[in-house]
Amino acid sequence: MVSFLIAYASWSGNTQEVAELVEETLLREGMDVTVHRIGLGPVPDPRQFDAMIVGSFTWDKGATPDEVKDFVLDVGYKPDNVYVFGTGDTQFGGDELFCNAAVKLAKFYASRMAPLKIEQSPRGAQEQTVIDWAKGVLQQWKHSHALKC
Ligand SMILES: Cc1cc2nc3c(=O)[nH]c(=O)nc-3n(C[C@H](O)[C@H](O)[C@H](O)COP(=O)(O)O)c2cc1C
Repeated sequence: MVSFLIAYASWSGNTQEVAELVEETLLREGMDVTVHRIGLGPVPDPRQFDAMIVGSFTWDKGATPDEVKDFVLDVGYKPDNVYVFGTGDTQFGGDELFCNAAVKLAKFYASRMAPLKIEQSPRGAQEQTVIDWAKGVLQQWKHSHALKC
């Protein structure tokens, strides 16, 4: 069983909804999942998990929220297996700044998968996109680890 840490930040609930859908999908696939809301309680140690999934909304013209930056600093190193999702709104700067925090985090962690970008709430039409991405994360993890064996 692969263990995943999902660490996410959310103010108005969109990113939390994506985190919950990712969690549900991985649990349904039989994985072990721990969810951490960034900014609440002690920062978990990613070394205790096989992979970390980070979720963030985007703020203030493409910025990463301060609590997410603090989380990255608190973690203190770049774990190997990091996957990133984000929510955003194209009304704030168009495609260029859409989910820019997720884009920057994926680059920072050299994620092996493109970040998932969700426009506002994932419920409805985008729900399947989240489910497919979460399954893709699991496939990617299994693939990269099978290659190392
Ligand atoms: C002041 C403000 C600035 C924002 N700037 C951006 C932005 O630059 N890029 C983007 O994609 N979304 C931007 N957003 C949209 C939020 O990222 C989006 O609503 C997100 O889903 C909120 O996540 P949450 O519900 O988890 O808090 C902005 C929203 C606000 C209120």
